[in-house]
Amino acid sequence: MSEIIETEWIWRDGEFIPWASAHIHVLSHSVQFGSSIFEGIRCYNTSNGPAIFRLKDHLQRLYNSCKIYHTEIKFTIEELAIACCELVIRNGVDACYLRPMVVRGYGAAGMMPFESHPEVYLPCWPWGPYLGNSALEHGVDVCVSSWHRAAPNTIPAMAKMAGNYLNSQLIKMEASANGFAEGIALGSDGMLSEGSGQNIFLVNRGILYTPSINGTLLPGITRECILELASLLSKRDMRFPDHA
Ligand SMILES: Cc1ncc(COP(=O)(O)O)c(C=O)c1O
Repeated sequence: MSEIIETEWIWRDGEFIPWASAHIHVLSHSVQFGSSIFEGIRCYNTSNGPAIFRLKDHLQRLYNSCKIYHTEIKFTIEELAIACCELVIRNGVDACYLRPMVVRGYGAAGMMPFESHPEVYLPCWPWGPYLGNSALEHGVDVCVSSWHRAAPNTIPAMAKMAGNYLNSQLIKMEASANGFAEGIALGSDGMLSEGSGQNIFLVNRGILYTPSINGTLLPGITRECILELASLLSKRDMRFPDHA
């Protein structure tokens, strides 16, 4: 189970508001039609204080997702990055998860979303390892899902859009009902795509494998980071250990 642990403040459109005041209307476009755009960013406790992992890369992806859905944010990446740092400091959390959200509020009744003006929210809260503490040490059992990822010409997988996660919820619930911690989905071509909320990798004899960005999976920032590390290792003629 993963419950949200409340913190004190949420940043909304340029100001800090109390956690309990971050409300939206039931007829918000994002509630009706899944049109909120979001990010998930880890902040780690380090000897130099809290450090947000690849903050600008995540915010850039948020902007890219917004662009795909013709959603304008009235803040720059720099401004949102500063707000994220202030949020972590104000909430007094050393390690946490930040969930930037661009929510289309009340206004539009149908598919054209433009009457629902986007609001930017930055909540954060302490959240342990995604699949639980023991997963880091012992690993987890996963299954291949009967649900496939959406085909590339249906919904853009590279946009981190709330509606995309209906597919992820089906994958996760099916896995859990069958006693697995996570489900891995195939793409519409029948090839491996990704997990319900993570990219996948395989290390065999020191070689790292991962599905390519083919329109069925989210281009993960962790994925990019791992590929950069792998490339550094290979330049030094080093290999990934098989249990990595
Ligand atoms: C569907 C999906 N794929 C992959 C990822 C991994 O992305 P990242 O490494 O940027 O966190 C996520 C993370 O939220 C995800 O939801």
